[in-house]
This record gives sequence, structure tokens and C-alpha cells, in this order.
Amino acid sequence: MSNFFANYAHTIIFLHVLSAIIWIGGMIAIRLAVHPHLQLIEDTKLKLEKTLSIMGRFFNIVIPFIIIILITAIIMSMGMQIQNKMFIYIKEAIWTVMAINFIVMYLKRAKAQKFFEDNKIGDTKVTLAIIPKVLLPLNIILGVIALIFGVSLRGF
Ligand code: HEM
Repeated sequence: MSNFFANYAHTIIFLHVLSAIIWIGGMIAIRLAVHPHLQLIEDTKLKLEKTLSIMGRFFNIVIPFIIIILITAIIMSMGMQIQNKMFIYIKEAIWTVMAINFIVMYLKRAKAQKFFEDNKIGDTKVTLAIIPKVLLPLNIILGVIALIFGVSLRGF
């Protein structure tokens, strides 16, 4: 694995950082730019329809990048000479919590979509509410913490 990493270090770190940018940056854009504007739509049904479709599209876009972060992380942790392994364990834990949180959000959106199609507007709203209030901000904070530990692992 050390040889593999030595040959492809540039590409592996590039893919790791690119994936983090798309995952964390995407969540920040959705929470701080898209979400407040969706709230301005007065027609509740239209608002929920747009919210569900934007989230569905975003979730599908980030899935490959969540997996790339893990694969590149495994290659780096096996191939790099890392003095403080504790940072690696912390980042692995952060990725795990972020991935579980992502799955919860994905399932909630799918459940809300079903409610919406059955014309249960109240249930759709209640099911979605926790995502912008708690789950998305939590993953943004965890992502930024993972980034801080990434810089530490680089040696600064
Ligand atoms: C799965 C566990 C993870 C491991 C083992 C891991 C490991 C590493 C390592 C070894 C580096 C240093 C690369 C270098 O020398 O430049 C790094 C950097 C980085 N990691 Fe991770 N990582 C993990 C998860 C994550 C997650 C979940 C994110 C964000 C969503 C993330 C974002 C970053 C970023 C942005 C950098 C670049 C920091 C810099 O530019 O100095 N990592 N990671």
C-alpha cells in the first residue's frame, strides 16, 4: 500500500480534498443559500415539492464523494507515515457519524416524498423539519472538524 500511495499520492489527496469540498460546500450552500430562499415560497405544496427535489438531487450527487472520501482515507492511513494515529481514529469516527447522519437524512427525505405523494402535507413538513434544523448543521460542523484534523495530519 505504501508503494501505491507513493505513486498516486497527488491524485489520492486531490480526490480526498475535492470530495470534502463538494460534500461540505454543498451542505453549506443548501443550508445558507437555498433553504432560506425556499422558505420565501408561500404556496406550501410548491415549497415542499421544490425542497424534496433539490434535496433528492443533492443527496444523489454527494453519495459517490462520500465513498471516495472513505476509499482515499483508507489508502492514506495505510500508505502514509503518520506519527499521530489518534487524528486518524478521530477522523474515521467523524466520517462514520457523518455517514450515519447522511443515511438518516436520506431516509427521512424518502419517507417525506412518500407522504407528499399521498397528499399528507402536514406529515411531509414534520418529517423534513429536523433536516435543516439539526441534521444538516451537525454534518457541516463535523465536516469542518474533519477538515481541521486533515490540516493537522498534513503536518501543520
Ligand atoms: C475517514 C477517515 C479519514 C481519514 C483517515 C482521513 C485522512 C486524512 C489525511 C491523512 C489527510 C492529510 C493529507 C495530506 O497529507 O495532505 C487528510 C486531509 C484532509 N481531509 Fe481527511 N480523512 C478522513 C475523513 C475526512 C472527512 C470526513 C473529511 C471531510 C468531510 C475530510 C477532509 C479532509 C480535507 C479537506 C483534507 C485536506 C487538509 C489540508 O489541505 O491540509 N477527511 N485526511
